[in-house]
Amino acid sequence: MVSIRNATIDDLFAMQNTNLHCLPENYQMKYYYYHLLSWPQISFVAVDSKNKVVGYVLAKMDDEYVDKTPHGHITSLAINRHYRKLGIATKLMKQAEKAMETVFGAKYVSLHVRESNRAALGLYAGVLKFEKHKVEEGYYADGENAFEMRKFLDQKVAEEYKKEQEEKEKEKEKEKEKEKQIQIEKQIQIEKQKQTQNPQKKKNQQRKGKGKGKGKGKGKGKGKGKGKGRK
Ligand SMILES: CC(C)(COP(=O)(O)OP(=O)(O)OC[C@H]1O[C@@H](n2cnc3c(N)ncnc32)[C@H](O)[C@@H]1OP(=O)(O)O)[C@@H](O)C(=O)NCCC(=O)NCCS
Repeated sequence: MVSIRNATIDDLFAMQNTNLHCLPENYQMKYYYYHLLSWPQISFVAVDSKNKVVGYVLAKMDDEYVDKTPHGHITSLAINRHYRKLGIATKLMKQAEKAMETVFGAKYVSLHVRESNRAALGLYAGVLKFEKHKVEEGYYADGENAFEMRKFLDQKVAEEYKKEQEEKEKEKEKEKEKEKQIQIEKQIQIEKQKQTQNPQKKKNQQRKGKGKGKGKGKGKGKGKGKGKGRK
């Protein structure tokens, strides 16, 4: 039987070991320590009946407070091969989300996932209802893109965020319209310039045209006349 409990410092080597077996993104031990020493309440392990770690979720609170909204971040999640598809990752994630919200007042949870990680995307988007926030080009060491995904834990913040996104979209549309208008005005300016330059060109062309017309007319006339006369 598998059970879920808070991760402790004693679990860190087993967590690192699971990570090394399951994921190409590996971390130094001090990074694991940093998580557990700073936010011991929000990282969890799944253990078997002998207390052996078979999966973990390593989480942190975002200390940058980029958008002034307290939020958690899933640094890493992995389940041993033999224990997959049993709902363990779902349970670990739900525990972490709950702890982030109740202990630290997180308003949302964010994470990164490889574009090609179908299993993880099924878990995050399909089961846990995370939404794609943006694509981070070349996020991983091998150049693969990441989806930054978010799940809101607070309805009010979710609505504010939606409004913000809509405003941003509107701003983008406005910018596009402005850019279009600038292009149109530039085109009009070019056309106007052409027209003001054209009268001179037209005159020059007309002069050339007249010259050519005379020459041709004379030449043809003489030629024809002479020819007819000889016959
Ligand atoms: C992704 C991972 C954590 C899922 O763990 P898990 O315990 O097997 O997941 P769960 O049993 O809770 O499955 C939940 C959902 O995930 C999706 N999922 C899990 N494994 C899947 C697979 N092999 N293929 C497609 N979808 C899968 C399904 O939508 C599943 O829901 P369902 O059972 O109703 O179909 C696990 O496969 C793993 O450790 N992978 C390697 C490490 C990794 O990719 N970590 C995530 C980094 S962002």
